[in-house]
Amino acid sequence: MKTITVSSFKGGTAKTSTSLHLASALAKLHNQKVLLIDFDAQANLTTGLGYDPDSLDSLAPVLQGTKKVDEIILKTSIPNLDLIPADTWLERVEVTGALAADRYSHERLREILKPLPYDIVIIDTPPSICWLTESALIASNHSLVCATPEFYSVKGLQRLALFMQNISSRHPFSILGVALSFWNPRGKSNQAFLEVIESTFPGKALQAKVRRDIAVSEASVYGKPVFETAPTSRAAEDYIALTQEILQRM
Ligand SMILES: Nc1ncnc2c1ncn2[C@@H]1O[C@H](COP(=O)(O)OP(=O)(O)OP(=O)(O)O)[C@@H](O)[C@H]1O
Ligand SMILES: [Mg+2]
Repeated sequence: MKTITVSSFKGGTAKTSTSLHLASALAKLHNQKVLLIDFDAQANLTTGLGYDPDSLDSLAPVLQGTKKVDEIILKTSIPNLDLIPADTWLERVEVTGALAADRYSHERLREILKPLPYDIVIIDTPPSICWLTESALIASNHSLVCATPEFYSVKGLQRLALFMQNISSRHPFSILGVALSFWNPRGKSNQAFLEVIESTFPGKALQAKVRRDIAVSEASVYGKPVFETAPTSRAAEDYIALTQEILQRM
């Protein structure tokens, strides 16, 4: 089983959209058995797949030891793709219940995922360096970094790189690459952004870029990925290329 954490220190870098499309492309086009984990209290991935986070259990009770993981896994409308939803209880879960007293609480997720029967697990994380992001990275053997072509986004990568180095020294994982979304192929500062990425994560900027495409936000209204709602869109084409490149790097 390969586990990939999708993260960025910043908000709005398309972590959730990238997690959803990478997972559905792997399930639909590459015949992998995939589990998507929404590990962000905002629960955008859960909503984006057409579920209501208020009526479902997240990993919070499983981490607290009051539920079993099999009880919270949901099927999605895509064959081979399952989901663990999020809810607001994930926020500050580490300071609540049994976790508050556990010095090794960030290793719990890793233990929970170990026995699960999937080829690939993809974990979508919140836009901050917090307990959830750290637990996700500790549970992973790979990570995918998301960024947008904006100065603050690429600058924020430097802090993320330090944080990742720190965790990776104790729990090794590989950085698969930096995925750029909202890409404008004619952007004037593209070269400058790519240079900052190169200096922070050498050799990691992925060739495949995801261009800005309204089809991405439209698809979330239907609770489906663009492969279902707009299969000939630019976004579908870009996510297919991104998935292929990530598979090669794995
Ligand atoms: N390539 C794209 N083109 C146009 N819109 C996009 C694209 N990718 C994502 N979006 C839209 O941008 C918004 C933010 O994307 P998303 O939720 O994936 O980012 P995020 O990094 O997960 O955000 P957060 O940090 O809040 O978790 C969403 O409304 C999404 O539909
Ligand atoms: Mg998100």
